[in-house]
Amino acid sequence: MGLEASPEFRLRINEEQDPIRLVNLIAKEGSRLLQAEGVGILFFDQKRLELWSPVKVDGQLLRLDARLGIAGSCIAQKEMINVGNAQHDQRFYAGIDAKTKRKTRSLLAVPLALPHGEIFGVFEAVNKRGGDFSSRDERIALTLATQIVGPLSRTKLVEQLRFQHQQLEEENSHLWKEVEGRFSTQQIIGNSPRIQSLVRLIDQIQESSVDVLITGENGTGKELVAKAIHYNSPRARKPFVALNSANLPDTLVESELFGIKKGVATGVEARIGKFEQANGGTIFLDEIGDLGLRSQAKILRVLQERSIERVGEGLTIPLDVRVLAATNINLLEAMKKGTFREDLFYRLNVVQVRTPSLREIPDDIPVLAHYFLDKYCRQMEKDSKKISAGAVRCLSAYSWPGNVRQLEHEMKRLIVMVRRTTITEDDLEEGIRRSPHQSASTEAVGFRTLPQAVEDLERRMIQEALLACRHNQVQTAKRLGLSRQGLIKKIKRYEM
Ligand SMILES: Nc1ncnc2c1ncn2[C@@H]1O[C@H](COP(=O)(O)OP(=O)(O)OP(=O)(O)O)[C@@H](O)[C@H]1O
Ligand SMILES: [Mg+2]
Repeated sequence: MGLEASPEFRLRINEEQDPIRLVNLIAKEGSRLLQAEGVGILFFDQKRLELWSPVKVDGQLLRLDARLGIAGSCIAQKEMINVGNAQHDQRFYAGIDAKTKRKTRSLLAVPLALPHGEIFGVFEAVNKRGGDFSSRDERIALTLATQIVGPLSRTKLVEQLRFQHQQLEEENSHLWKEVEGRFSTQQIIGNSPRIQSLVRLIDQIQESSVDVLITGENGTGKELVAKAIHYNSPRARKPFVALNSANLPDTLVESELFGIKKGVATGVEARIGKFEQANGGTIFLDEIGDLGLRSQAKILRVLQERSIERVGEGLTIPLDVRVLAATNINLLEAMKKGTFREDLFYRLNVVQVRTPSLREIPDDIPVLAHYFLDKYCRQMEKDSKKISAGAVRCLSAYSWPGNVRQLEHEMKRLIVMVRRTTITEDDLEEGIRRSPHQSASTEAVGFRTLPQAVEDLERRMIQEALLACRHNQVQTAKRLGLSRQGLIKKIKRYEM
């Protein structure tokens, strides 16, 4: 068999105007040349951070968060990936197999780029018959990729594909589409491994109704995550009801949560409780760590019995509610102190999601800063702005006690205050502008407990040393006065 696609194939792909037929043609020729069980094209929607295939699986359009899986890595790295034992590859993501109804053994992925370098998709061959993809297959795939880029990227065709994609989406109601878009995992910005594993976890639990405990410091996106979980679940079109436990005194908890019958006390109007409002959907118990002990007992009972009783009514109402709880306090410590019930903790902690502080994901700070800058420039109808390299350095080095929320506010403030196109160091708020070393020692101590401040300092020093030593662990350890084992332990602990 030849290395090259048949002349007939080359002729046909250049003539084919229908995108689905074109993709099918490529799939057929690709499978033949590479002896693969399946070949497909995934298109990259940069705006939505989504990979999608115009060919349906079980009548469903395949849509994936573009950061997931080997195809996602192929896009991010702009490089061909050839994997023999996919199930054991770190980049492999089993959720995609579940969607494509296939078990991937071997996989060959080639990025598809326009002449000026922009990646618009991935060519993927799955499961080589009788072995792995060879270097010969790699050459075949690369050649094929160069041949199909032209036909696939012909503007009219890509536009047509986009249009079809949009049309399919519009089968949903407008309002729904907006809600879904606003709370999908793609709204959780960041490319760091920590954010990737967060997105992966949300995707993994999307079909189930497990209760989830979301922990993380102030402003790290706990509510954003809760909404992404709800709106990516089968309950998405049922209510999402948030309850801020911090503002809820023990005395009001029952009527607020379970509802109350009219006339229980003079002047009392009938009210439906939050749990009942959320029936069929999701209740989000925010700041659960601030709940009083009496309220904790009440909530525990609901979780155990999955039913409620309205105050003054004596009637049991069965509930089908998923519980998502969030807290920024350390519940393990609270349990030790006796301010948080252990049994409630274990009930809530079926799956735990931890949202990272900005100090843990410094590489994502510029990504988030640019994201907010673009988003709010557009929203405020201002011309787009840039951030100078120096300013980016300051943003990255700052310790961000208020995390993403603080960064978001700072970017909004800058858009309003700075007239020039480029935001420079001098425009930044005083505290952010200060040198990294200063902020590590002073800021960190000011608002944190001593162990937290020490952790921050450690993390930052390790990061700086790693950078300075170009990730050479022996040198880094020496520079920090640690053993190599000690350094590795800390790198693991801080998930660096
Ligand atoms: N990874 C992220 N990508 C994009 N936006 C984010 C991200 N994380 C947080 N945000 C934004 O930051 C702001 C704060 O997020 P959110 O309210 O979810 O945090 P929180 O953890 O609930 O904070 P708090 O503990 O103060 O209640 C929101 O505007 C949210 O959209
Ligand atoms: Mg919150």
